[in-house]
Amino acid sequence: MKQDRISQTALKVALGNITLSSKADWAKRLPPDLVEISEQLLLASGSPGYGPGLMRASKKPWMVSVYEIQDRIMPGQWEGFGHRKIFMNQQVELAIEAGARQVLVLGAGFDTLCLRLAPQYPDVQFFEVDHPATSAAKAKGVALVGQPDNMVQIAADLSASTLSNVLSNDDRWDTTQLSVLVAEGFLQYLKDEEVRSLFSEAAACTTSGSRISFSHAIPEDRKVLQMILRIISEPFQSAVSSEDLPGYINNTGWTVISDVDTNSAHGIERYAVAERC
Ligand SMILES: C[S@@+](CC[C@H](N)C(=O)[O-])C[C@H]1O[C@@H](n2cnc3c(N)ncnc32)[C@H](O)[C@@H]1O
Repeated sequence: MKQDRISQTALKVALGNITLSSKADWAKRLPPDLVEISEQLLLASGSPGYGPGLMRASKKPWMVSVYEIQDRIMPGQWEGFGHRKIFMNQQVELAIEAGARQVLVLGAGFDTLCLRLAPQYPDVQFFEVDHPATSAAKAKGVALVGQPDNMVQIAADLSASTLSNVLSNDDRWDTTQLSVLVAEGFLQYLKDEEVRSLFSEAAACTTSGSRISFSHAIPEDRKVLQMILRIISEPFQSAVSSEDLPGYINNTGWTVISDVDTNSAHGIERYAVAERC
């Protein structure tokens, strides 16, 4: 993916959720404030085209129809985003209730989880990592919304630097704290061996009992989507079935603790939770 450009897929996820909030009961199902904050982040990002006109258009019934057609052609590339947000939010809150004191969102894009939950959990430290260009574009919106004292944004390419190096540059990350990591719509942009290295690295940076909630692409025919992703230089690089996941991350320090995900509403992705052994 191009380092010097804001991630187009990150913009697309945030915008897709804004439109999703105009469909049926999705506004109530999505985590509170997600839509309002997403809109502020996108507007502040300075990304071409992401102005007030697009935000207004995104909530119109005709835009919902456009997305419904797109979702049929590329399953999971719209409502799947909403399912993902709900799943990750629930898993992070469960982990915090179980004692996690650090939240780390990998490939955060314009995700709002840290911004929403940091003020609710002042005793928990929130971290986000993303490519420098996307991180910088998001920082403008974070400043606008108000950066919580317990939230840190880190700009880094996780294909080029190890997670230990990235986190050791910030003295607030504490490897001895129970933590919950999130990798939502992110792992598929790494190669299989990079995914496994990332899990090993994540194990080195966390203590036993920590968790990682993540989505992963499944091996499926997705020619149209992959063609579009290639055009924007963000093609998928890895995939694994939900059934094969335990073997895929074997010996990385993590054990899958969630059931096999068979939910086709998740489109070309499946969701999982693993625990640090
Ligand atoms: C599809 S977006 C998902 C964004 C967010 N997790 C969400 O679901 O709303 C993928 C994100 O992964 C980030 N990303 C991809 N490869 C990365 C890498 N090697 N290092 C850091 N971030 C990366 C992109 O910049 C982008 O923000």
